[in-house]
Amino acid sequence: MKRERLILLTAVALAFIGLCSCGNNKAKEMVTTENFGSFEGQEVSLFTLTNKKGDVVKLTNYGAAIVEINVPDRNGDKGNVTFGYETLDGYLEGDAYFGKVVGQFANRVAKGKFTLDGVEYTLALNNGPNSLHGGPTGWHSRAWTAEVLKGTDFPAVKFTYSKPDMEEGYPGNVVAEVVYTWTDDDELIMDYKVTTDRRTVINITNHAYFNLHGTGNGDILDHEALIRASAFTPVDSTLIPTGELRPVEGTPFDFRTPHLIGERIGEAYDQLVLGGGYDHNFVLDNVEQVDAEVYDPSTGRVIQVITDQPGVQLYTGNFLDGTQTGRGGKVYQYRSGFCLETQHYPDSPNQASFPPVILTPEEPFLSSTTYKFGVR
Ligand code: GAL
Repeated sequence: MKRERLILLTAVALAFIGLCSCGNNKAKEMVTTENFGSFEGQEVSLFTLTNKKGDVVKLTNYGAAIVEINVPDRNGDKGNVTFGYETLDGYLEGDAYFGKVVGQFANRVAKGKFTLDGVEYTLALNNGPNSLHGGPTGWHSRAWTAEVLKGTDFPAVKFTYSKPDMEEGYPGNVVAEVVYTWTDDDELIMDYKVTTDRRTVINITNHAYFNLHGTGNGDILDHEALIRASAFTPVDSTLIPTGELRPVEGTPFDFRTPHLIGERIGEAYDQLVLGGGYDHNFVLDNVEQVDAEVYDPSTGRVIQVITDQPGVQLYTGNFLDGTQTGRGGKVYQYRSGFCLETQHYPDSPNQASFPPVILTPEEPFLSSTTYKFGVR
């Protein structure tokens, strides 16, 4: 009798332990981790986040990158809508920015120079006469540390990069964190936190390319874009803002009502000629929840962009040339992807009239951008 009671109690206790560990691992089970290689002695992993709909996002800690986003079209057929490589070698050899987190200063800094508190800082030039996306060994080219978050409602992974003082010319021991959360409503939320021990400048973004047909299936000129921006920042021939905030009214940059990306891209408008298409910062009105939206009439897929940042770079893949082969053997041709990079305005450290980009030890930089997918 006593023995039977003991067996019963043991069974109940084991079941309880089992239940508890299931509860604790709730979020962990929504994220699986595979080896993706190693970079400079650090482990690189591929994380697969699956939400309750069974829709999947893949991430890697190399460049804190989005690797895949698999979402349904209006018939329920799932497809990958973002650029990424099959292997870590693909990332090391290929285009620097696919799906990556870009820092310490996203987009361009004119002539690779800026002055802060009376001191001039010099950055490496990696884009003609300018510094682009944090320089050649910016945050996109680092292996970040990774943590699969536990106890969260949705699958979530946190990446952290600790940048030593003066790396790539930027002052400050800077710690950058991004938490990716993949909700059951197909929202990919990117929460950023950046701290420093010394005054510096910051502009962080994600550089994902999208093609809502599914990557590798034609160009994005037939996608319809809406951008809630009443002005944009015109550029010079090296794509540095001139300082002007030009109203979009009456220009091919007016996306306040939906227009096909390809509708006006070929016009002889000065800024389209200089940019080789759209490659410009839009000054967001920031008045409605959704800041930008792109819809593909053929598949019904929609992406909405929601951000607290003051700008977004619409880049229409004008530098893509078919030399990059991504996941599933897909070839990324000219204008076969668009980016909506939420950001502070390019070259802000040299443009006194733009919103400030100074990061201080007293106040962390906190920001959130969401890419929400759906169908219509
Ligand atoms: C964009 C930038 C483009 C191009 C691209 C990377 O953010 O605006 O001019 O440099 O990144 O190829």
